[in-house]
This record gives sequence, C-alpha cells and structure tokens, in this order.
Amino acid sequence: MNGSNTHLVDVYPYLPFTPDRGEGPWLFSGERRVLDLYGGHAVAALGYGHPDVMRALEEQARKLFFASNVVALDVRERAARRLAGFAQPHLDRVFFANSGAEANENALRLACRLTGRRRVIAIEHGFHGRTAAAAAVTWGALDKWYGFPRTPLEVDFIPRNDSSVAIELIDGETAAVILEPVQGQAGAFDLDADFVRTIAEACGRHGALLIADEVQSGMGRCGAPFAIDLYGVKPDMLTVAKSLAAGFPTSALLMGAEVARELRHGDLGTTFGGGPLACALIETVIDVIERDGLIDSVYALGGALRAAMPLGPVTGVQGRGFLLGLRCSRPARQVLSELLERDILVGASADPNVIRLLPPLNLERQHVDHFLAVLSTMQA
Ligand SMILES: Cc1ncc(COP(=O)(O)O)c(C=O)c1O
Repeated sequence: MNGSNTHLVDVYPYLPFTPDRGEGPWLFSGERRVLDLYGGHAVAALGYGHPDVMRALEEQARKLFFASNVVALDVRERAARRLAGFAQPHLDRVFFANSGAEANENALRLACRLTGRRRVIAIEHGFHGRTAAAAAVTWGALDKWYGFPRTPLEVDFIPRNDSSVAIELIDGETAAVILEPVQGQAGAFDLDADFVRTIAEACGRHGALLIADEVQSGMGRCGAPFAIDLYGVKPDMLTVAKSLAAGFPTSALLMGAEVARELRHGDLGTTFGGGPLACALIETVIDVIERDGLIDSVYALGGALRAAMPLGPVTGVQGRGFLLGLRCSRPARQVLSELLERDILVGASADPNVIRLLPPLNLERQHVDHFLAVLSTMQA
C-alpha cells in the first residue's frame, strides 16, 4: 500500500497484510485469518469486538458523546475512581490526557515545576514518546528523529541495570527519573528489581520524583495491575495509555496527594482528555480485567509461553506476563515475516534479534498452544 497511490505521508513501513475486521484475538483480511499476538502495540487489551467494550461504547455514545473539562461528569469521576483503585493506593489522583507522550510530557513538566530543577534522568534504550520533553528522555531520539533545535530539559541516561551510575547521577539537581519497568520498544527488556529499587531510594534521598512510564507495561499486561507493583517500588507519578481503553485513544497521569496538592486551576489541561467515551471504556476495561480474572490468566499463560522456550528460532525470553521479548537465533524481521506467512502476527522491536508479544489480555490457552505449535515447525 505504500507508494504513490496514497495521500498518506509515507512514514510507516507496512506489513504485507491489510486487515479489514477483527474478532477476539483474530484479524481478518477477506477470508484470511491471522492470530494477533501484537495487539496493535499492546492496545487491543480485550481483542476485537469485545461485547462489553461494544456495549459501553454504544451506550455512552448515545447518552453523551462528548463534553469538555469545563463540566464535571459522573463517568469521568467513575473512571478516575476505578483507575485509582486499580493502581497502588497512594496513586489516588488522576489527570486524563490523550496519548502516552502527552501523559509523560505532563509528568515531566510537573516534576520540573514542583522541584524547581531542570535535569531529568532516563534509562538507556527507553522510549517515552515523540513530544518535546518525552522525546528528549527517549534513548536515541536526538540522533534519529528529534528535529527540535534544543531539548526543554537537561537529560542524562543511565545504562540499564547499572546501579553505581544511578547512585552517581541522581543528586540534588535531579527533578525526576523516568523509567519503564519493562522497556517495551527495546524488546520487552525487564529492568532488574535491585536497579529499580536503588533508583527509587536515590530519588527519595535527593527529593527527585520517580515517574513510572507504564504506557505499554500497565493495565495488567505484566501479570500485575502495573509492572512497577512487581518491583516493590512506589513511584511518585505513573503514566498509562495503550491498553487503558482497549483501543479508544486515551491516557492518564496518576500521582499521589503530595504532588496533586501543588496543582492549581489551569496548571494542566487538554480538550479531549477525560472525554466521556474514553472514560466509559476505561471503566469497562478495568471491570472486565477484574471480573474475568485476566491478571491471573496473563500471569499463567505468560509463564507457559516462557516455559516453552527455547523453541524453533527462539533462543531466550525476556519481559513479564504478556509483554515478552523472544530472542531469536536469526534476524527478528525474518522470523516475523515467516510467522506472518503462517498467519501469526507478532511485533518487532528496537533490538534486531527480538520479536515482541503483546497479545490481548484475554488470549486463551488454545491460542498460546497454536503459537507454540507453529513455532516448533520453524527452522532454528
Ligand atoms: C513506554 C512508552 N511510553 C510512551 C509511548 C508513547 O505513547 P503514544 O504513542 O501514545 O504517544 C510509548 C509508545 O509506544 C511507549 O511504549
């Protein structure tokens, strides 16, 4: 589809598959059916056409399609209450936005403002989005696609799992450390618990804020409500998007009362964030995750996937739950293409030898078995 017949700017290298509908974990192109273990970058949390999602969307659309933040909405209050209840107890204040980058941009802005500092620390190979501050803390962005003449922050990067550099760099000038507990784009690389705890302690000692970017790893995907829960660490702020409304564009910035108490009217804002459709779907996603025991299921099936490796071209596994990176003996692009030829869609990553699995949270055992059976037929 890329080429001269399109009016779209040619910035995405398309896969040779053009879906026209989806059902459960399956994408269809005419008669062809493909098992989607990619979930549209971890977005299709409940697969396609989930009845609860469809019902919530239709009911809310009929009731009130949009209302801005100049009015209070019950559905917005409910979504915030449900999301705060899903997160660690101290993260009980919510600001809704539209994308992962926007949530991170606001978290970074608040960190600089509240600490009066302008230096932020990020982790090598992390990805945080494409707006000015989010991109400034994204590894490699400045060299590849950043584009702005300067960054709004001073940024230092810590090598992954290097606690001594973390201790050296985090000091009284640090506004915040931002990290993905499981680095998604990097190939579902899960940071060591000791490293994340060392960072949290150093932040605490120096009055720097810890921002957990759970845009990709959150909403039950890692086998806990949020990946940071598995690390025994309490972040000052947490951002979430992708799976949050199962495909309806939205994001949220969660924070504790001590951060929220510093905010005044007008300090944060957005037109579409916290709209009623997104909020109805956030409520529904959390309802379904809890009602159907999806976190336990992700934990169990993620464990089954992990236990089956090495298999076929896969030599090792990283990540947690349903945010898995499968390290391959051959280039990931080659393995991805061969899987797609066999009607299974997986993701690539920034690591040329790692394919990513980010399937719907309600994937079933039979789908996992199907994937493993196909993998076992492939050349090592
Ligand atoms: C961890 C992480 N943070 C932030 C973003 C940016 O999110 P968005 O594309 O919604 O702006 C992404 C997107 O891939 C991500 O994976």
